[in-house]
Amino acid sequence: EDAEKGGYPHYMLKEIMEQPRVLYETYTGLLSSKELAEAAKLIASARKVFITGAGTSYHAGLVFAYYIARYAKRVATPFIASEYTVYSDVADEDSVLIAVSQSGETIDTLQALRAFKSKGAKIIAVSNVLGSTIPRESHTTIYTRAGPEIGVAATKTFLTQVLALTSLALTLATEEGTITTTEYKKAIEELALAGRAAARSIDASLRILDKLVLVLKNKGNMYILSRGIGVPLAYEAALKVKEVSYIHAEAYPAGESKHGPIALVERDFPVIFLGVPPEDVLLEKLQGNVMEMKARGAHTIVIGTTPYGKLEGVDVFIDVGSYDELLIPYAIIPPAQLLAYKLAVALNRDPDKPRNLAKTVTVE
Ligand code: G6P
Repeated sequence: EDAEKGGYPHYMLKEIMEQPRVLYETYTGLLSSKELAEAAKLIASARKVFITGAGTSYHAGLVFAYYIARYAKRVATPFIASEYTVYSDVADEDSVLIAVSQSGETIDTLQALRAFKSKGAKIIAVSNVLGSTIPRESHTTIYTRAGPEIGVAATKTFLTQVLALTSLALTLATEEGTITTTEYKKAIEELALAGRAAARSIDASLRILDKLVLVLKNKGNMYILSRGIGVPLAYEAALKVKEVSYIHAEAYPAGESKHGPIALVERDFPVIFLGVPPEDVLLEKLQGNVMEMKARGAHTIVIGTTPYGKLEGVDVFIDVGSYDELLIPYAIIPPAQLLAYKLAVALNRDPDKPRNLAKTVTVE
């Protein structure tokens, strides 16, 4: 087992560190496959677009909903797989469902798929396991190439799903003419750098996270707040912290915090902000949210792009570099995964086998 961990103490850490490589492998795999074009055609000819998954895979679906609106000017309705009935009721032959599941076996996602299929909807699977049930029952499958993921908490499969879904949104956008061929080419070339963005933010955050963990490990709660594309990333960051450290972490769109969550904030309550592009639109707004929390004595932490370094009222800043909206997930998520991992280790919890959780849930 130790050999399989490649010298790392846990699979979770090994899998976080593998992200630069598997992102590149997924990228080259996507470029040489026909499935992206096939899937984009299915979406282009559908009137209603839905995307579903459970846990981390659902969060990848939320990221897709953002990019498909941004680049292809289409609306995709994301829903949590176990809540499928209200959506499958309105599905028809003009619908397409994207079913995201790294294992390809999650029962909730499979049931959603079957319900949509029985209504005549077309199904696109996004999976990491060749020939698993969800791809087998779908019309086409986009495979991620993350390699086997052993840690119960999904890490490398998430960012490879995001890469696959972003490429799908861009392929659709050229198909629909909402971006030019030149813009498409530029965006695809940029995605080749996803792995490098992950590697750089891992390097930039390791030392500072060690110090941060000493403070956060003694806390019972934290908020993770963001805006725009950062919101689904905040959901994923909070899920990671909960899953492996058992510290209660809750994510909200930052603008929503004043509508309830802020009631809990008192002296030294940790609030992590994810600072994402476009900074000209989001930075000032996030500054307002930081000040709201600081005024109540919160311990404020920002994991963000370089421009967020100028925010006031911030106790700890983790600079992930400068990125646009396309590359930001790969720079923001690895430090969040590492934070969750390091909290688990500091609290003597096994990050590879968190209590009460299973890698693949095949019973309802
Ligand atoms: C389980 C795992 C999660 C995962 C979810 C969906 O709950 O513990 O980490 O995100 O299933 O799994 P899937 O294989 O469908 O992506």
